[in-house]
Amino acid sequence: MKRLYKLISVCLLIVTLSACGKQAGTDSSADKVSEQYGQAESVETKEQAEQEQPTVLETVQTEVQAENDLTDGQEQQTQGGDNTVTEDISFNFETKTVLLNSGYEMPIYGIGTYSLTGDTCVESVTAALNSGVRLIDTAYMYHNEESVGKAVRNSGVPREEIFVITKLYPNQFDHAEAAIEEALAKLDIGYVDMMLLHHPGAGDVEAYLTMEKAAADGKIRSLGLSNWYVEELEEFLPQINITPALVQNEIHPYYQENDVIPYIHSLGIVVQGWYPLGGRGYTAELLGNEVISEIAAAHGKSSAQVILRWNLQKGVVVIPGSSNPDHIQENTELFDFELTEEEMERIGALDRGEKHDWY
Ligand SMILES: NC(=O)c1ccc[n+]([C@@H]2O[C@H](COP(=O)([O-])OP(=O)(O)OC[C@H]3O[C@@H](n4cnc5c(N)ncnc54)[C@H](OP(=O)(O)O)[C@@H]3O)[C@@H](O)[C@H]2O)c1
Repeated sequence: MKRLYKLISVCLLIVTLSACGKQAGTDSSADKVSEQYGQAESVETKEQAEQEQPTVLETVQTEVQAENDLTDGQEQQTQGGDNTVTEDISFNFETKTVLLNSGYEMPIYGIGTYSLTGDTCVESVTAALNSGVRLIDTAYMYHNEESVGKAVRNSGVPREEIFVITKLYPNQFDHAEAAIEEALAKLDIGYVDMMLLHHPGAGDVEAYLTMEKAAADGKIRSLGLSNWYVEELEEFLPQINITPALVQNEIHPYYQENDVIPYIHSLGIVVQGWYPLGGRGYTAELLGNEVISEIAAAHGKSSAQVILRWNLQKGVVVIPGSSNPDHIQENTELFDFELTEEEMERIGALDRGEKHDWY
């Protein structure tokens, strides 16, 4: 009986152990499978991330866009009201765009249209669009919004692919609502991608708040300021709800704003430079600068291209003005070379604090 009991116990022990072994075997093979999946997943994610860096940007944009769509602009206002920095405003040199804090993507190079009017403006903007330029800067004060709109409408380029900036001049601040309608009517391209206040002036806060309302109504997509510096921004920003997506200021090698640019960037606001080539009347001296010419020769590029590239590497969007199709094309060829740190510093050393306009 004792022997029978022992035998039964031994059998039970063997059955239990073999069941455990099976169980353990199943677990370990399951672990292997999940490890393999895990590895495959992480390799795929890494590869995807490497291959699709722009997609990461696009995803953020899509998410922000979806939020904006869902909340009809309210989310944008809340975000701006907090003055919180939620966006990475570094330039994507693959897509040649930057993601604004408004959730919209903007090209990092374009064409400026100051002093281009009538047919000259239509032809210049048309040449730019034909050269692949998708960012156009105009203003009420340039008297050419109709011409810019005409070139955009006739280009055959889908409206959504073109980014048009216009500006309210201080003499419009006291009737901003009507001025916005006027810009929309003159441009006649459905909506304005971005509207800036041209420079500080009486009633600028109220005018900006009116632009905020137009943004909530879908008439303007992004808002910004022009000729606002550190003190002006410190005073202005607490009075508004939507953080500007962009500040456009005079920036060129002789007027570099090295104190202002990092401050604006730190607020999650993109910086755009006007008079990148020094402005009419000053370009010959700047383009002929010995240091810039030397660097240009070393890269087999033009002085204009070196200055524009220097801006881009500093995180400054460029909008050179031109009515010459060859120059317009040249000003797009900025992505097949890179300035070294030393070259950036040599151009940095050219700063003279020399403003070429009064704003
Ligand atoms: N917010 C503001 O207060 C404000 C103030 C001023 C300007 N802006 C904006 O900034 C934009 C840029 O300023 P801007 O047009 O006055 O000055 P800019 O871009 O510094 O210089 C324009 C001059 O450069 C020449 N140029 C352009 N590309 C060239 C190239 N590759 N090689 C040689 N020369 C070249 C043009 O002549 P060609 O026509 O012969 O090419 C033109 O004479 C304006 O158009 C405007 O949209 C804003």
